[in-house]
Amino acid sequence: MAETRTHRGNVPAETSSLVGRRAELDEIAVLIGRSPLVTLTGVAGVGKTRLAVRTADRHRDSFADGVWVVELSAQQNGDLLGHEIAAVLGLREQAVRPQAEVLADFLADKRLLLVLDTCDHLVDAAAALLRRVLPEAPHVRVLATSRRPLGLPGERVLPIEPLAAPGPGATGAAVRLFTERAHALVPGLTLDPVAVAQVCRLLDGIPLAIELAVRRLRALSVQQIAERLDDRFALLVGGSRTPLGRHQTLRTAVGWSHELCTAQERLLWARLSVFTGVFDAGDARAVCADGRLTGLPLCGLVDKSILIAEGSRYRMLGTIRDYGREWLRRLGEEDVLVRRHRDHGRAP
Ligand SMILES: Nc1ncnc2c1ncn2[C@@H]1O[C@H](COP(=O)(O)OP(=O)(O)OP(=O)(O)O)[C@@H](O)[C@H]1O
Ligand SMILES: [Mg+2]
Repeated sequence: MAETRTHRGNVPAETSSLVGRRAELDEIAVLIGRSPLVTLTGVAGVGKTRLAVRTADRHRDSFADGVWVVELSAQQNGDLLGHEIAAVLGLREQAVRPQAEVLADFLADKRLLLVLDTCDHLVDAAAALLRRVLPEAPHVRVLATSRRPLGLPGERVLPIEPLAAPGPGATGAAVRLFTERAHALVPGLTLDPVAVAQVCRLLDGIPLAIELAVRRLRALSVQQIAERLDDRFALLVGGSRTPLGRHQTLRTAVGWSHELCTAQERLLWARLSVFTGVFDAGDARAVCADGRLTGLPLCGLVDKSILIAEGSRYRMLGTIRDYGREWLRRLGEEDVLVRRHRDHGRAP
């Protein structure tokens, strides 16, 4: 018989403040009340995962059988989606039956919220699985995040827009995010509100881009950040006034952080992209270190917001990882590193 773990849920703790988004959180709550499947869509780095995790936390007590977050960015194989969910729910393997059937049976009488985070690359598999499972599980709610909708009938899609761009009074959530992160980095720093507003506008209010730009405050003033971003964007659009797409804005922001890294940090970033979840310094050393990468500049990468430190462990956001992976491929090291990562996982 399948069985669950005793604790009800696995909502990760948030490691930084959440800025704004009250209206979105309320809207998500309403949609969850109305539909078995709610999907948050939007460009990379806009804050879909943050909203999903905060929603999960808010609903901890509303679902008798718990709130469960399944992080899917690492799962490349859609056929294993059901296994991934079952593992998080603590369901024992039942290899003889199709996983969708096992999940449907298990969930039939459950009252739980399932967050499927980062479905982008598994949209078809997720849709097929939920089409089978949801009709049998009337008290289960699914909150998905994905750059595109799953395409199921009854799915409620909520497009997440970037944080409100600053108005004339330099207010708005984007400015608040910049200011909060800046003060966390350099307490007591005086910021020119006009320049902050300009940076936020240039970065289209995309939270990840803003967080990366803030890191430059160690070496540059906000005015200098604004000027350099402006130059860079002007260069990209050939000096025309055409705004960049948001995707391009974020890529540029990530690329700028990349240029800021030392050669050793860049190499470590690229190599660490083979880790899909959390890892510690020992894992990083075992997989990434060699004659070319003698030091292990993890702190340098944390400083630049490339790595997120959680106690003694580290992780990377998907967009940052994708960029590193692309770099790794260009270095011709992808196969070797994937193998080293796999062998490390197998090590006793
Ligand atoms: N409202 C917010 N307040 C504070 N920080 C935010 C907010 N929204 C997003 N962030 C921060 O911005 C970064 C990107 O957010 P998040 O990972 O949620 O984006 P995403 O839309 O899920 O991106 P992806 O499509 O790559 O998965 C994270 O560091 C997150 O903590
Ligand atoms: Mg995400």
